Amino acid sequence: MSAAPAARLGDRSYTVMLLPGDGVGPEIVAAAQTVLAAAGERFGFSLVYEEGLLGGRAIDELGAPMEHGLIERCQACDAVLLGAVGGPQWDTTDPLRPRPEQGLLGMRKGLELYANLRPVKSFAALTHNSTLRPEVIAGVDLVIVRELTGGLYFGARERTADAAYDTMIYTESEVERLVDYAFRLAQGRRGLVHSVDKANVLESSRLWRAVAVRVAERYTDVELRHMYVDNAAMQLLRDPRQFDVVATENMFGDILSDEAGMLTGSIGMLPSASVGAGGVSLYEPIHGSAPDIAGHGIANPCATVLSAAMMLDLSFGEAEAAHAVEAAVETALQDGARTADIAAAGEPALGTEEMTARIVAALEAE
Ligand code: IPM
Ligand code: MG
Repeated sequence: MSAAPAARLGDRSYTVMLLPGDGVGPEIVAAAQTVLAAAGERFGFSLVYEEGLLGGRAIDELGAPMEHGLIERCQACDAVLLGAVGGPQWDTTDPLRPRPEQGLLGMRKGLELYANLRPVKSFAALTHNSTLRPEVIAGVDLVIVRELTGGLYFGARERTADAAYDTMIYTESEVERLVDYAFRLAQGRRGLVHSVDKANVLESSRLWRAVAVRVAERYTDVELRHMYVDNAAMQLLRDPRQFDVVATENMFGDILSDEAGMLTGSIGMLPSASVGAGGVSLYEPIHGSAPDIAGHGIANPCATVLSAAMMLDLSFGEAEAAHAVEAAVETALQDGARTADIAAAGEPALGTEEMTARIVAALEAE
């Protein structure tokens, strides 16, 4: 019988695997749940949560950075919402000791999440909070499409007595599916893809560039421009509005997306979605676990709330609810709601829960 999928479609109940992780992770994931509940109430869907152990907490409780069978548990859910992993107590240079980040990388690889979407939009209310001039960042609207399961992060590596190496290796098919994703995304946007590489030095980048050119032939409505990564780092600060979709290798994307975070005023504002070959997707803020402020109730929940909005749209097809959540964040900001990371000097700062309440109030008032 094929009744199950149809019933599923009409159902509008979604199962989310929560991986709060370390540091501020549990606080910001709780904030996202509060906003999701309000969105569900208003738009008529419901959420069921599961919870898993990942990162430093998993190391402490289980001796490994990821609970056993977590990938399978995630695959049985409709989406995964992750807080952050890591902290100084688990930092080690000993290659034999487990690290929290291995859990995160294991999730990405295990769920085959090859494309990491990092939208960077400047918020009108925050253009004066950036370290960059308002006229440079006003109207910025770009997406970094970062390759997430290959390159330097996953290539062969070794540490010998007095040396170490990491390998940046890409197959054509790995590059092709990532670049193809970027082109499809650009079709629904302004039709421009910057492929960022280091083809003047790296062989893997020359392969990347050749594949990008080949993919571009299939998309006559999208323009392809190549840019070296060092220049891209400069151009992001010089004239960020020139970018629409930026397609790039794993490590380059990691670095450029932190840099791009400052275009919005704070990395605490940036969401992300990691998508793969059609299975379950993972949503997480770009920022880390911020151990210095963990437990103080002052973390900015916006990046995680906006990640949850991406989840509503991309995984559940609840586009209307997703837009409403995004609009609620903007309204709260416009009304002057600020956590410490985005408050100007002397401006009063809200805690995580108060900020979340302001977003919920804006959502309910829309
Ligand atoms: C990110 C983070 C991770 C990465 C770390 C925590 C392993 O910096 O998601 O950007 O490097 O991918
Ligand atoms: Mg990073």
